[in-house]
Amino acid sequence: MSPIDLDALQPSVAWVEDHIEIIDQTRLPGEFATLKLSAVDDVVDAIYRLAVRGAPAIGACGALGISVGLDEFRPHEASSARSELVRLTEVIGSARPTAVHLRKSVERVRDVASAGQTVDEIRSLALGEALKIVAEDRDACTRIGEYGRTELAGVVNIMTHCNTGRLATAGWGTALGVVYAKAAAGEEVRVFASETRPLLQGARLTTWELMDAGIDVTLMPDGADATAMAQGMIGAVIVGADRIAANGDTANKIGTFSHAVNAHRAGIPFYVAADVSTFDMSLASGDEIEIELRPGHELTSWRSEPTAPAGVATWNPAFDVTPADLITGIITDVGVLRPPFEESIRAAINAGGDR
Ligand code: MRU
Repeated sequence: MSPIDLDALQPSVAWVEDHIEIIDQTRLPGEFATLKLSAVDDVVDAIYRLAVRGAPAIGACGALGISVGLDEFRPHEASSARSELVRLTEVIGSARPTAVHLRKSVERVRDVASAGQTVDEIRSLALGEALKIVAEDRDACTRIGEYGRTELAGVVNIMTHCNTGRLATAGWGTALGVVYAKAAAGEEVRVFASETRPLLQGARLTTWELMDAGIDVTLMPDGADATAMAQGMIGAVIVGADRIAANGDTANKIGTFSHAVNAHRAGIPFYVAADVSTFDMSLASGDEIEIELRPGHELTSWRSEPTAPAGVATWNPAFDVTPADLITGIITDVGVLRPPFEESIRAAINAGGDR
């Protein structure tokens, strides 16, 4: 039996009547609250503040945000609705730069909806396409989980970073999808979640959702990874991805690169789990991936309590790039891709995996 019944749970992002409803991820684990987004500024703000976060979830929220914008600004003619689509794509698509899902989703909605001949048709095409993106992501997560389960048969202790589960996607997640698939199949699985500094997505979100699903999870500081690996506590590392270049270099939450280096040193397999829309074939390598820099206050305070002296200089990159040569395999919704990734990624895209 599945450890989570997605149909019975509040989704991370949903379209409800005429607005977006998200789980407010800034309030977890202390409080489970939802937020209604019925203006474009609210959508951009929720994405920027990480009230909704995780690459596929912000892609879904951004896509639905186009419909919020069309309703808010109510263009009277098809031509002005098309101009509005272009403007909304820019405004929403720029809320965060690293996760490819956001930009791809809004552009996809813009392109499909632009074909409409009337304002109503444009509006209906935009919402239809956004809902399709949501459904596709849910489906992709299920397939990633199954491919990952086969790949990692017999591996019990899985380390992960950040949050890649039902909060971060429209389904049961990517890296955590593999964990849920194992649990659903009755396999023994135990997760070691690194806390994920500075915003604690691992500590606040991954532990919360796994405990809610009854899955064995142990929280550890980010810097405990090498020791846990050296002590034989970790069988494999699985992380998610925000953008993967054509050569397999992978941008994911800051700290991922260190986990990959340490896994390599310890001889432990290091997997990336991501749907095929995470590939950005326009970028030859990870050097070209734009890394979001976040404000320093995320490092110097926690919910208005100081965690560092006032005025200290800060550097707060939200993501890092793990070089492809540290990655054992990329678990996607069309199968597990292996090195050399230039070839396996191109083959997956050519086989119809491009979204
Ligand atoms: O800044 P965040 O919390 O949005 O970063 C999220 C991650 O880095 C996830 O690992 C990634 O988006 C994949 S989620 C399936």
